[in-house]
Amino acid sequence: MAEIALIVLTVVLISSFGYVVITSMMQNILLTGTAGFIGSNFVPYFLEKYPEYNLINLDLLTYAGNIENLKECESNPRYKFIKGDICNRELVEFIFNEYDINGVIHFAAEISCR
Ligand SMILES: NC(=O)c1ccc[n+]([C@@H]2O[C@H](COP(=O)([O-])OP(=O)(O)OC[C@H]3O[C@@H](n4cnc5c(N)ncnc54)[C@H](O)[C@@H]3O)[C@@H](O)[C@H]2O)c1
Repeated sequence: MAEIALIVLTVVLISSFGYVVITSMMQNILLTGTAGFIGSNFVPYFLEKYPEYNLINLDLLTYAGNIENLKECESNPRYKFIKGDICNRELVEFIFNEYDINGVIHFAAEISCR
């Protein structure tokens, strides 16, 4: 009985260690303007292709942005949407601190091709 308990404990410890290693390898990317044309195509592609990244999306939802464009990503635990302005320094600093951002991919823009 004690041997079985020891084996179970060992398996639990090994899998917990694996979980810690995997989560600590995750990278957090801040994406801006993702509700627009390029961003809303980029996000689902990137989420599927690169499972080691969490995507934090900052978009003001101007005339050019439509949150419906990202509906398919809403249930993904590695996707987070924040409505806000990239010119809001406090907000951007908050996001960097809160989500431990490792990199930025910038799509936000005032102009639109359409
Ligand atoms: N679409 C093209 O063919 C093309 C070609 C070359 C370069 N680009 C460049 O790529 C970038 C993205 O292009 P797009 O076509 O996806 O643009 P888009 O106009 O479709 O989308 C821009 C997004 O930025 C958001 N936004 C605007 N101001 C913001 C702000 N202050 N804070 C946060 N979000 C804000 C909008 O809500 C929108 O979702 C732009 O810089 C554009 O100049 C686009």
